[in-house]
Amino acid sequence: MKFMIVSGSNRKDATSTQLCRYIERLLRESGHEAALFDLWEKPLPFYTKDSQPEDANVSELKQGLLEADGIVLATPEYHGSLSGVLKNALDFAGFDHFDGKIVLSVSSAGGAVGVSSLQHLQTIVRNVHGINCPEWISIGGAQRTFSPDGVPEDEKTRERVQRTLNYFTKMVRTFRMK
Ligand SMILES: Cc1cc2nc3c(=O)[nH]c(=O)nc-3n(C[C@H](O)[C@H](O)[C@H](O)COP(=O)(O)O)c2cc1C
Repeated sequence: MKFMIVSGSNRKDATSTQLCRYIERLLRESGHEAALFDLWEKPLPFYTKDSQPEDANVSELKQGLLEADGIVLATPEYHGSLSGVLKNALDFAGFDHFDGKIVLSVSSAGGAVGVSSLQHLQTIVRNVHGINCPEWISIGGAQRTFSPDGVPEDEKTRERVQRTLNYFTKMVRTFRMK
């Protein structure tokens, strides 16, 4: 199956992006295609409903979402919500990209967990007719440390990520069966 992972932090080496890279690796190791779209590396213009010059990053994001069987959205917790760059990116997408697809929400927070941003993300997913994976992942505080080769140092975090991905991929397979 094909997965699109959108990393919503606007900074280099963000912990949410490191988690996305780890998720990408685990998905590939279990035989799936996975692409990571990092909004820091590939910034988007501000969305406007007015006509806008074609933008290569916007086109890549939309194509990746269109082709995906399952989608992962990751955000830092900012003021109890998702990041501005991720909200802006999602404004470029809609039913065509999300309808009937399972979406896993992921967050990184300064506090212990970032549930508020996950809830806001899930509200957006519902509004574009995506199907929220009931499991989600939030890393916070000291769980945000990664080894030089990109593996979460906290064992419970590794277990949590693997368990959630197993649940998520099983759900995607069920919903994408023709
Ligand atoms: C503007 C801003 C607002 C933040 N608001 C919160 C918050 O409401 N709750 C929280 O736990 N952490 C908050 N933080 C801390 C970030 O969530 C935390 O540093 C997170 O790990 C950043 O993710 P990143 O490494 O992927 O960029 C905030 C940080 C910034 C810069």
